[in-house]
Amino acid sequence: MPTRYDIVGGRPLQGTLRVSGAKNAALKMIVAALIADGVTTLHNVPRITDVEITLKLCEELGARYRWRDETTVEIDARNINNAVIPLRYSGSTRTPILFVSPLLHRLGKAELTTIGGCSIGPRPINYHIAGLRQLGVQVEEASRTAYRFQADRLHGNIITLEYPSVGATENLLMAAVGARGRTVIRNAAIEPEILNLAGMLQAMGAVVYQDVNRTWIVEGTRRFRAVEYEVMDDRIEAASFAACAVATGGEVLVKGAIQRDMVTFLDWLRKVGGEFDIYPDGIRFYRQDRLRPVNLETDVHPGFMTDWQPPFVVLLTQAEGISVVHETVYESRFGYVEALVSMGAHIQLTNDCLGSRECRFTNKNYLHSALISGPTPLRGGTLHIPDLRAGFAYVMAALIASGESRIYGTEFVQRGYANLIGKLREIGADISETPVETAESP
Ligand code: EPU
Repeated sequence: MPTRYDIVGGRPLQGTLRVSGAKNAALKMIVAALIADGVTTLHNVPRITDVEITLKLCEELGARYRWRDETTVEIDARNINNAVIPLRYSGSTRTPILFVSPLLHRLGKAELTTIGGCSIGPRPINYHIAGLRQLGVQVEEASRTAYRFQADRLHGNIITLEYPSVGATENLLMAAVGARGRTVIRNAAIEPEILNLAGMLQAMGAVVYQDVNRTWIVEGTRRFRAVEYEVMDDRIEAASFAACAVATGGEVLVKGAIQRDMVTFLDWLRKVGGEFDIYPDGIRFYRQDRLRPVNLETDVHPGFMTDWQPPFVVLLTQAEGISVVHETVYESRFGYVEALVSMGAHIQLTNDCLGSRECRFTNKNYLHSALISGPTPLRGGTLHIPDLRAGFAYVMAALIASGESRIYGTEFVQRGYANLIGKLREIGADISETPVETAESP
């Protein structure tokens, strides 16, 4: 049954919470488990809908899974026997394309029926397809959203990605580890979540390492073993709570926030006027000063992550002056701004590339830059969540706002944030979840 969050805002958040394992690492590691003909154990897996969907997909392909405890899952991939990635799950997430490489290693073929995902712009898979073709995979486009893949054995190659796509890099790493010979992937993504996946692939038997200039080098093997492996902590979740602590003028110790994976975020937070103390197992976030405006651009790692952008924009509504945020990863990731404006924020969107450089979306008519002028008091309202990261931005805005907010579409948030209510309550938020009739939800 759908639910809604009721939030009474306006109080500084204070206390300690622990983030969960990283969604964007866990999903790929669950998929990678299918490469090995054995039982893989993954620790620190977040209990979120996207993980459940991915596990169900594994099951459809012949694997079995079992939660050993709250965050440990065992994936038995000894009986992979179905190469068709089913349509009913493919609609709700883009993970299905990543199953192609494990299926090619195990069955020599894969079939994909459609690609879905959050409503944050179109989600093409052209980089995945082009790279797989270069590794010797025959790809047949059965329709605009259906593909058939076939390869008796993949072969290594030198691939240069048009753009350092996270998903395409992960897919090609998973393909290359089972290919004959050496693969070089240039202009690749190097996000910490990809390092986590690469570490698992190495443990499974592959030779896989990073070279200079965004390059991955892989030497393939046929002999994989099932491993026991740990998912990294979620740096998107950590940054989201950090932004809440600073925006509400509170102080929160976020356990599982790891400096190494959040260096860029920490720099920008400090430029805005947020402060932090680093501990071995977490980071304490608070505000030292008045909040200052910044001129910021999202980018691939080691740049400022696009997934940090929505909570940061909410934070910037509380800074004194005009901030500029240029989104260069997704063409339409400001869909949540309208709701913030209805709560009292002053934000203007523009098609122009505001900032120091032009991006892929220049002259393309996408509202991908924002001018935020603050500080603006926010007032509670009724909000309908359009996608996962926007969802957290709404929750955060409601926590800052005076009065009460009702937020519908909570299932989007539950795709990526494990036990959000419990965590926010630990830091003093007044938030509750109520089941709603379908007619009441959007
Ligand atoms: N792109 C193409 N062609 C492709 C692949 C990507 O044009 O074949 C474009 C995309 O449309 C986008 C850009 O390249 O404009 C970047 O996409 P990328 O492939 O890097 O993203 P992804 O792998 O689909 C992952 C995360 C996203 C995160 C991005 C960027 C997962 C499951 N998703 O997506 O996370 O925003 O990398 O860091 O890992 C989220 O967690 O809310 C989320 C959307």
